[in-house]
Amino acid sequence: MLNNKNYYKKETAKIWDDINECLLSKTTAISHDDYLRAQAGELKVSLAGVKIVPKAWFPALTGKDVLALASGGGQQAPIFAAHGANVTVTDLSGKQLANERYVAEREGYSINIVKADLSEIFPFPDHSFDLIFNPISNCYVESIQSVWDECARVLRKNGVLMMAFVKEEFFMFEPDYKNEDFLISRHSLPFNPYKDLSEQSKKKFIEEHRPFAFSHSLTEQIGGLIKAGFEITDIYEDCDGGGLFDKYMNSYVAVRATRK
Ligand SMILES: C[S@@+](CC[C@H](N)C(=O)[O-])C[C@H]1O[C@@H](n2cnc3c(N)ncnc32)[C@H](O)[C@@H]1O
Repeated sequence: MLNNKNYYKKETAKIWDDINECLLSKTTAISHDDYLRAQAGELKVSLAGVKIVPKAWFPALTGKDVLALASGGGQQAPIFAAHGANVTVTDLSGKQLANERYVAEREGYSINIVKADLSEIFPFPDHSFDLIFNPISNCYVESIQSVWDECARVLRKNGVLMMAFVKEEFFMFEPDYKNEDFLISRHSLPFNPYKDLSEQSKKKFIEEHRPFAFSHSLTEQIGGLIKAGFEITDIYEDCDGGGLFDKYMNSYVAVRATRK
């Protein structure tokens, strides 16, 4: 059972539901006031950690078809809806999607909510969207080239992709449980939890509701985008805003790319 990838995928979806239950209790969905401010023109969304995505990254959103990809939770999709976009949001977690439904009903806008796995063929026709917004999530997918190929397929020509990822070196380290102010280098790269964790550690991950996350190299992230037909137009680094890793590095990268 523990060597079966489908088993892990199912567990990962359940884990995200559990994580999200605790996120839900912290009401991470945007507030009504946030929504009103967005309707009045404010465009504040995060893609990676704590930084707000530069306004210049966005095309005018009114009437645009936007895919909030693996982006459930009620944080970004409502802002795009408030700006007049036709929004589709996908996620693997039913609870993250329920949060989207909750905000949409509260604010009275319509949204297309689709339960879909990032690692599979996207359930949309070719050239369906003007913008794809993909917050950090590809670390939960073992192989990411198909994500970039699918983004290129469903985007229109000159469409914009905003995506964020976890730096590869993040996966080398774990907190030093003897002195939690320190990180220790424990894993070699690439890190694949299916292959690199012991059976005991995998069980522990599941018991502790920690999702399995994979490292991906710059070749897979940036090279993969280029291979899929994207042109990178901007990039910035970001952090957690307070975690142990922040003491050592910016763990996240946000990328803007256009489909040629
Ligand atoms: C860091 S959250 C990003 C979304 C959230 N709105 C945010 O900004 O924090 C990662 C999201 O990826 C989703 N996810 C994890 N694995 C996935 C997969 N294989 N397919 C689709 N979504 C997935 C999780 O349920 C979660 O909502």
